[in-house]
Amino acid sequence: MEPERFYIETHGCQMNLYDSQFIAEVLARAGSQPAERPGDASVILVNTCSVRERAERKAISRLREFAALRKRNPSLVIGVVGCMAQRLGSRLAERESGIDLVAGFDAYHTLPDLIRGARLRRPVVATVAEPRALYSLRPAEQTTVTAFVTIMQGCDNFCSYCIVPYVRGRERSKPHGDILDEVRRLVSRGTKEVTLIGQNVNSYSDGEVDFARLLELANDIEGLERIRFTTSHPKDLTVGIVERIRDLPRVCEHLHLPLQSGSDRMLALMNRGYAASDYAKIVRFARHTIPALAVTTDIMVGFPTEAEADFEGTLRMLDELRFDAAFMFRYSPREGTQAENLGDDVPLETKTRRLNAAIALQNRITDEKKSALLGKQVEVLIERESGKEQAFMLGRTRENWLAKIPREGVRKGETVVADVISATRWMLCCDHSSRKVGA
Ligand code: 5AD
Ligand code: SF4
Repeated sequence: MEPERFYIETHGCQMNLYDSQFIAEVLARAGSQPAERPGDASVILVNTCSVRERAERKAISRLREFAALRKRNPSLVIGVVGCMAQRLGSRLAERESGIDLVAGFDAYHTLPDLIRGARLRRPVVATVAEPRALYSLRPAEQTTVTAFVTIMQGCDNFCSYCIVPYVRGRERSKPHGDILDEVRRLVSRGTKEVTLIGQNVNSYSDGEVDFARLLELANDIEGLERIRFTTSHPKDLTVGIVERIRDLPRVCEHLHLPLQSGSDRMLALMNRGYAASDYAKIVRFARHTIPALAVTTDIMVGFPTEAEADFEGTLRMLDELRFDAAFMFRYSPREGTQAENLGDDVPLETKTRRLNAAIALQNRITDEKKSALLGKQVEVLIERESGKEQAFMLGRTRENWLAKIPREGVRKGETVVADVISATRWMLCCDHSSRKVGA
């Protein structure tokens, strides 16, 4: 019999990227092989995101496109995994006749059996009320220069707009020994940079080992060059964590710290657990402690009852705190969250106008920050060839800016010092510098 050939399309956040690698590992261990293109696959899995309605709509339209491939390949199995699978379960299979399999987080270990089952009697639905599983990867022989390592799953914060605590379940931390083993294995196969990921990494807790201690332990791993982490929650970011960013040489000077809104009334309704002034104090302290620190954030506009004055509070915070970059979103009501009861009273046009105004302001700030780097030296970890420009390699600075540098003389996985010669909004254009790393 032909071996199963799987194709996984991943939507959403870094947690999903990690989960897709885990799924690929489970399938490969059962004898399946990855397919290059969906058209070559015997099973297609879409790893879905539920954070905003738009992400869910996109997944549905991709699933319908994939279902059309069945005309040529009648035994094709089309499955949904990830947040939508967990959230909607059998409702999803009832709604979309093209779906053969719906598997929630705790079903990933048994996917090979579920796929076989779906071929005999479709649809197969495998979700539990509350996911508990924790995954660790066994890195393959060949790894990438940078890798994600999930350190915790789930979230207990229940921000009123957010679906995550309902789909990913209660917060649970992976044993620190497993995390460190995973990082060591990645490093032994060539990985230079790891990003420790979780919905709220600052509240990591494994007995005596809290997040600050985990950073220390990871920093001791020989051969690892850089450590990043995301996402931080302002209410759980401690002085100890900020000091570790300053003191541990491998921990990069970058903090992703979602603000969401600059209005105290909105922050209270969002159940964020801080006021705008608390947030500003944290950022000022962190920047004072670590002058080179880059701070990025998430902003949401159009949360229920958001008035012009509330939104102006957000613009003011963007203006005052001058983030290096920000991800901006229009509020999208999610079924079953507390905020759903508040209605969705900000008209779409207003949300869009506010979103565009916030983006325009942040773009100006990002451009100014980039311009200030001209003529400066940055440390770039070379990650890969540039897809578009043969003559360049791509990497990132410690502050997480994307950078390109002429390829001659640089190798993937190498850290180089580079001069910034020009900058676009998304990219620093660099040249080789005569200075060496650490000099
Ligand atoms: N609508 C819009 N944006 C949301 N986010 C989370 N839930 C929603 C929602 N219901 C945003 C937040 C979060 C980021 C990952 O996604 O800004 O920080
Ligand atoms: Fe959602 Fe808040 Fe948890 Fe982030 S911290 S995943 S926004 S509930």
